[in-house]
Amino acid sequence: MSVQIKKTMRMRSWVLSFLLLLFIVPAMGAAPGDLLYEREDKSEIIAFPPSVFPHWIHRINYRCDACHDSLFEMKRGATPVTMELIGKGEVCGACHDGVLAFDDSFQNCARCHRVPSD
Ligand code: HEC
Ligand code: HEC
Ligand code: HEC
Repeated sequence: MSVQIKKTMRMRSWVLSFLLLLFIVPAMGAAPGDLLYEREDKSEIIAFPPSVFPHWIHRINYRCDACHDSLFEMKRGATPVTMELIGKGEVCGACHDGVLAFDDSFQNCARCHRVPSD
């Protein structure tokens, strides 16, 4: 292979990486990865960690409109979530009912209430 061709190929892969950065990475960023809920009462955090919401894992199974905006607004903390609402089949409980996805029984607490992975 001539030096000239090699150079063109290197240039092409560089252009490709640039396009990837320009379009694909921000598109991924539009759906955040793990979101960590915050508690207003900070004393509770020590006793029990807040819930994680693995946004990315849910995205694999669902389209955006499965949740936005009927169940959750597209803004962190904008939709109130409590265990009472989950137990009533609202917010996370719309799916985490033991049929579509694991429910809020005791063996499952730590699946949501854990340290986030990123
Ligand atoms: C499907 C995910 C999920 C499961 C399973 C789950 N929780 Fe939660 N929980 C949440 C979310 C989301 C919140 C709201 C954000 C926060 O405070 O962590 C919450 C809030 C809480 C709170 C704060 C006060 C309140 O009532 O909202 C406590 C305490 C709590 N959970 C305990 C538990 C216990 C104990 C279990 C198991 C019996 C459990 N949770 C199971 C998602 C879950
Ligand atoms: C299974 C439900 C679900 C699906 C599907 C889903 N989201 Fe979300 N999204 C959530 C929840 C829950 C939150 C956090 C809401 C909160 O903190 O009150 C959230 C938050 C967001 C936020 C706000 C992040 C921030 O930092 O303020 C954006 C943006 C977002 N989602 C975009 C998307 C996009 C784009 C898609 C599709 C590609 C999508 N979501 C699919 C449930 C979902
Ligand atoms: C549109 C339906 C839907 C909604 C709404 C939803 N989930 Fe899920 N979630 C699922 C499904 C389906 C799974 C994977 C199946 C399973 O593990 O039972 C899952 C898995 C999870 C997992 C385990 C991911 C892993 O690491 O394997 C966590 C944690 C979780 N959800 C938390 C939440 C929390 C917290 C909320 C509310 C803020 C929520 N989910 C709302 C459908 C949903």
